[in-house]
Amino acid sequence: MRTDTAPTPTLLEDYTPPSHELTSVYLDFDLQPSATSVRSKIDVKRLRDEPLVLNGENIDLRSVKIDGKVLKRTDYKLDQEKLVLAKTPESFVLEIETVCDPSANSTLMGLYVSGGRFCTQCEAEGFRRITYYPDRPDVMSVFTVRLEADIATYPYLLANGNKIEDGAVSDKTGRHYAIWHDPFPKPAYLFALVAGEFDVLEDSFTTMSGRHIPLEIYVDPGNASKAEYAMDALKRSMKWDEQVFGREYDLDLFMIVAVRDFNFGAMENKGLNIFNSSLLLADAASATDMNFERIESVVAHEYFHNWSGNRVTCRDWFQLCLKEGFTVFRDQEFSADQRGGAVQRIKDVRALRGRQFAEDAGPLAHPVRPNAYMKIDNFYTATIYEKGAELIRMLKTILGAERFRAGSDLYFKKMDGTAATVEQFIACFEEASGEDLTQFMRWYEQAGTPKLKVLRETISQGAHRIHFMQSTKPTPGQSEKSPVVIPIRWQIVGDNGALSEPKLTLLTGSGTSVTYPRIDEPYSVSILQDFSAPVTLETDATTDDLLRLMGADPNAFNRWEAGQTLARHLIANMAKAIETGVTPPADTALKGYCEALKKTLDDPDFNNAFKAFVLTPPASSEVMQSLEQVDPIALHEASKWLSRAIGDLLRDDLLDRYHALADTHDFRPDARSAGRRALRNRCLALLASRQDPLAATLSQTQLSESTNMTDELAALMALTRLGGQRVETTMEDFYTKWESDPLVLDKWFSVQAMRRHADGVHAIEQLTESSRYQRNNPNRVRALVGGFAMGNPELFHRIDGSGYRFFTDQVLDMDSRNPQIAARLLGAFEIWKKLDDRRQDMVRGELERVIASNPSKNVLEIAEKTLGA
Ligand code: ARG
Ligand code: ZN
Repeated sequence: MRTDTAPTPTLLEDYTPPSHELTSVYLDFDLQPSATSVRSKIDVKRLRDEPLVLNGENIDLRSVKIDGKVLKRTDYKLDQEKLVLAKTPESFVLEIETVCDPSANSTLMGLYVSGGRFCTQCEAEGFRRITYYPDRPDVMSVFTVRLEADIATYPYLLANGNKIEDGAVSDKTGRHYAIWHDPFPKPAYLFALVAGEFDVLEDSFTTMSGRHIPLEIYVDPGNASKAEYAMDALKRSMKWDEQVFGREYDLDLFMIVAVRDFNFGAMENKGLNIFNSSLLLADAASATDMNFERIESVVAHEYFHNWSGNRVTCRDWFQLCLKEGFTVFRDQEFSADQRGGAVQRIKDVRALRGRQFAEDAGPLAHPVRPNAYMKIDNFYTATIYEKGAELIRMLKTILGAERFRAGSDLYFKKMDGTAATVEQFIACFEEASGEDLTQFMRWYEQAGTPKLKVLRETISQGAHRIHFMQSTKPTPGQSEKSPVVIPIRWQIVGDNGALSEPKLTLLTGSGTSVTYPRIDEPYSVSILQDFSAPVTLETDATTDDLLRLMGADPNAFNRWEAGQTLARHLIANMAKAIETGVTPPADTALKGYCEALKKTLDDPDFNNAFKAFVLTPPASSEVMQSLEQVDPIALHEASKWLSRAIGDLLRDDLLDRYHALADTHDFRPDARSAGRRALRNRCLALLASRQDPLAATLSQTQLSESTNMTDELAALMALTRLGGQRVETTMEDFYTKWESDPLVLDKWFSVQAMRRHADGVHAIEQLTESSRYQRNNPNRVRALVGGFAMGNPELFHRIDGSGYRFFTDQVLDMDSRNPQIAARLLGAFEIWKKLDDRRQDMVRGELERVIASNPSKNVLEIAEKTLGA
């Protein structure tokens, strides 16, 4: 896909509606691994007197017919990216025959082979690798699909919708076929087919109107029991969407297929979701609690897309947040209902801060609805997904639960069967609520994380005033920022809890203030409870304020938040001290912080999952965001220092708690059991970070005795953190034990990626060259190369530049096979402007090397933007 001409971006303002309508689509696949022929027969209606543009990439065109008549080569225009029919009748039948090579498709877009099975990924622009077609989301049609393949190798033939026919192919021995019909009009990006040998886990669901829906999950032979948790999550999702959003399933069948080679998490193809097996398969022995949790949320996410994405889709890819932000919000609400609100909110905010805030503050910053792109694949970002979800959450906060639901109902009713825009979505909420949401639209248009500044002031007679002020820094291409509407939940808190009701203040201009009467005891203000808006906070809170909130805030999220804020200060101060070589002053805040941690640890009102989060200081990558420029190794040292200090000061408590939380039951994946394991393993990690000899013994025992992967992996990580000569043999033993389970081996590779190898980057390099590595498999590459860049600051940021060089080599190597994955990996450089000057020079050199290497369009876009070229 290399192009020599300067690529031109696609712009939102250039949108024009489709020139032709496709009233029905018939596709006939003759599935052969290295030469699959695709014949399409499409009923077309011309809407405007314009050429019909059909996209196509990497496929061989065999013939084009209009109303049965074969077109001559001079009747159409054909280049690398499209087929153009200049003059078409008003309505006609278009027939196209193409051939593609799925076995050679390493991009994993379009039709490809994974583990000997055919599968597809069409979002965003993969369908054009299957046949020539107007591959844009606002062209929707009713699809009928015939699949034909060898019966022995491909006993299951699946596509969207309902199966209407199947049988043997009469004139070809050993071949069979199936015909599928999807009655709901859909864009091509929701098309899917799967063919191969599977085990099927079957179940069913009865919808709210009493319809009986068979549910089927297709997995590698032998893995059916590993899909049980996903099936359970699916049924809970279906029920939840009926109860909370009033959404009922619509087809007569719902299928999920798990594949090993997949670019992303999962895909919501109508009636036939396709999942990365890492987000579907789980059992106690091989999957962690985090895996179970992710499976639950992604199964829900893809299922919820059936309405927010499929029944109502996007007019163009600039509207991607319309389905993704909304659907992430829906899956977050589902998970909160399944697992507890405060803990879920903490997880979501950690993810938002870790990835989205970094994106919004760096060279790749873009609005939730961007207005230009080179490759849309590069815009499946934390901003579109996670910040997009935050916008929906604010909408609900501003309107209230009832009016929010009314808006959602109206949207699904009014826009059903259409390809919609963000404006149309917001208009439904305006209509249902009577609110003017004009200013709210700015959240979609403006990039960058607003800063909310909060100051307290004493006014007459001991009364108080709180000033709220907002500002947003310029982002690439947007120098001027206007105020956005910020819903701020706040409450006055004393040493024994609430001193006021929780309040909601809407900040619409650059500043506003609220007053409250005199209070005759020490108090603090709990601001942005439950993280009511995606902003950074700058307050005049003192250490005493933060300690008070850690111990007494009635809002559990903000208790956690107060501890995080304090920890961020502690780490940042220590990093500065390390960097400048001065000994930091003995910090009284540290003692207070650890005492507050202990108080929470002992508090029976909080569950273990919450306590585990309180005992987890922010990652150094998060602290980095609050700093101008920093030596990443010093920052990492500072972050290790804090964990060690907690381990030292709370040693006995952590040890007691570790023993008290020992498992006495069989493994259960529920939130309570997972919380218990999370806290226990957190205690172990803190003990290990102080190099406690006892931690080594405990980890060894836990590693050999554990019956679940959560405990096994936690013990393995504690042991690698502790170091010593035994690590190598322990790692090898683990490898041998799990040799036949690729998903567990991915975990082994991530642990390797994040270890402090004695011979530095070379150890990682050797792993990429070992026969254990699978350079074509995205999961494996993410585990090793992604894990190295994001999770091993000591090696990645080596001052000799060996980490950056190795990483860049890997990105370029990947780019030759799978540009999407390569571009995504390259995102690890987005924080480079936060690094010290010397490292910035080295990263700049690597980015220039990438650009000079004639990379794919995907990688070029990321490299150029990161560099700021
Ligand atoms: N729509 C899928 C989801 O549920 C993700 C598809 C990713 N595709 C891509 N080209 N990045 O989130
Ligand atoms: Zn999605």
